[in-house]
Amino acid sequence: MTTSPAPIPHNIYPMTFEETVLIRHSTRRFLPQPVPKQILHHALSLATHAPSNSNIQPWRFYLLSGAAADRLKTALVAEASSGAEPLIPPLPDDCKHFRSELGKQVYGEGGLGIARDDIEGRRAAVLRNFDFFGAPTAAIVCMNNTLSKADAVSVGMYLQTFLLSLTEAQVGSCVEVSVAGYPDVIRKCLSIPEDMDIICGVAIGYEDESMVVNRLRSRRVSVEETTVILED
Ligand SMILES: Cc1cc2nc3c(=O)[nH]c(=O)nc-3n(C[C@H](O)[C@H](O)[C@H](O)COP(=O)(O)O)c2cc1C
Repeated sequence: MTTSPAPIPHNIYPMTFEETVLIRHSTRRFLPQPVPKQILHHALSLATHAPSNSNIQPWRFYLLSGAAADRLKTALVAEASSGAEPLIPPLPDDCKHFRSELGKQVYGEGGLGIARDDIEGRRAAVLRNFDFFGAPTAAIVCMNNTLSKADAVSVGMYLQTFLLSLTEAQVGSCVEVSVAGYPDVIRKCLSIPEDMDIICGVAIGYEDESMVVNRLRSRRVSVEETTVILED
């Protein structure tokens, strides 16, 4: 089946591509207001135009709103609150400074404003990952476990296209590997087959603009630091 998304009427002042890319950021506090299905379906169908190895289109997506989203959030929050250790591979040592810098931004004064020694406050803030930061819609991103890194690249391209389409519709999002730390909970709740890897979740909804944490913009390393350009 081919998908040709019809233009949708919400976008009265369309953003340029550059604006859409620059405006997208991770939203970590949402309003409960639901996202119209039309916007979600439009973003999903645009995302299917992502490139993939041999055109296998390896992305497998679960999109949950309403009671289905609430059931998943409740199960994940219960598991995370129980102290069960999440199954997340540790970051290599040379990447840890990025996490520490981001943690200071998210939890510190320019973000949620939680004092460093407020252990309970930090624990509660981390737990918000598992209720998808109050987002009314949650997605779970999967891929068959027989596929390779190149196929995960295709899933990433799909995901970014999806996020940019949401951004253009003024809908916020946050990709979350944290929820994938409890794959058994997600698998059971959504009846995800054993041969599917659960890669990450996505929180989707309208941003709570009153929350300072949503004004956070993460630092980027320069193109020169990540790219070798050879010309002759
Ligand atoms: C694969 C992936 C996993 C992520 N997991 C989390 C997460 O569990 N919790 C969270 O708050 N943010 C998470 N993020 C958001 C990143 O922290 C964020 O994308 C990064 O700091 C860049 O900031 P920006 O998205 O605002 O541009 C994740 C992003 C990606 C792409």
